[in-house]
Amino acid sequence: MTDPTMRDPILSIKGLTKRFGALAAVDDVFLDFASGETHAIIGPNGAGKTTLINLLSGDLPPTTGTIHLLDRDVTALAPDRKSQLGIGRTYQKTNIFPDETCFQNCWLAAQSRLPSSMRFFRRAHRRADIRAATERALALCNLDARADVIAGHLSYGEQRQLEIGMTLATDPKILLLDEPLAGMSAEESVRTMALLTSLAENLTLILIEHDMDMVFAFAQTITVMVNGQVLETGTPAQIRASAAVRDAYLGHGPTEQGATP
Ligand SMILES: Nc1ncnc2c1ncn2[C@@H]1O[C@H](COP(=O)(O)OP(=O)(O)OP(=O)(O)O)[C@@H](O)[C@H]1O
Ligand SMILES: [Mg+2]
Repeated sequence: MTDPTMRDPILSIKGLTKRFGALAAVDDVFLDFASGETHAIIGPNGAGKTTLINLLSGDLPPTTGTIHLLDRDVTALAPDRKSQLGIGRTYQKTNIFPDETCFQNCWLAAQSRLPSSMRFFRRAHRRADIRAATERALALCNLDARADVIAGHLSYGEQRQLEIGMTLATDPKILLLDEPLAGMSAEESVRTMALLTSLAENLTLILIEHDMDMVFAFAQTITVMVNGQVLETGTPAQIRASAAVRDAYLGHGPTEQGATP
C-alpha cells in the first residue's frame, strides 16, 4: 500500500504489472519511494522482487503501468537512459568484466553515463571527468588500493563491492541493489553493510535482501511482496507487528530466525 503521508517521492510506480505468459510476476503494484530513504523489498522466492527491480531499471519493459522519476515518466526508457537520469542498479548475480582491472571496470561504467551525442565532443575535458568519476567510485567502494587488480582475481565480496563501485561511477541518485549480501562471508557482509550505510547518507537505496537482520536494522521502509503483489508497506516496527506479513512470510521459511520481533 502506498503511504498517503509520504512527502517527496523520488520514484513512484502505479499499476505496474509484468506478465510472463499467464504468470503475473509483478501484479498491479502501486508504490512510492521517498527521496533519501532506504527502502527494502522482501518476500519469498518467486515473489516478483527481482522482476520489480528489472522494471525500475529498464531491463524489462512493463506489460502495463507507469514509473515516474520525480515528474518525469520513465516507464519505457531503456537501462542506459535510466542510468543517465540517475537510476543505477546492481544484479542478483555479480555482473563485472572479469578480465579488466577494477579501474577499467569503473571507467567503462563512468563512460556509459554520458549520452552518446556527447561522446564526440570535448574529448579532453570528458576524459578528465570520467577519470575523476572513476577514482571517486573506487574510493567510495573501498577498492582504490585495488585499482590495478584484474577483477576476476578479486575475492567474491570484493567483486560485489566493485559492482557497486561501477554503479557509483554512473553517479546515481537512486541505487537499486538485488541481494547485495548474497553469498558473502560474515566478514564480507560486515564490510558491505558499512559501505551501504555510508552510501545511504547521500542516496536513495532500494534493495532486495533475504537477510532479515540486515533489512530490519537498515531500512526505513519495508515492502513485503507475495505472488507479485504488495502485501504491506511500512516501517520495520509496522512490518514486524503485521499479522498478515507474519502469516504470509516472516513466520515461515529459512529467514524466520532473523525476523523474529
Ligand atoms: N524472464 C522470465 N520469464 C518467465 N518467467 C519469469 C522470468 N523472470 C521471472 N520469472 C518468474 O516470475 C516470478 C518472479 O520471479 P522473480 O525472479 O522476480 O522473483 P524473486 O522475488 O526475485 O525471487 P528470489 O527471491 O528467488 O530471487 C517467478 O515465478 C519466476 O519464475
Ligand atoms: Mg530475485
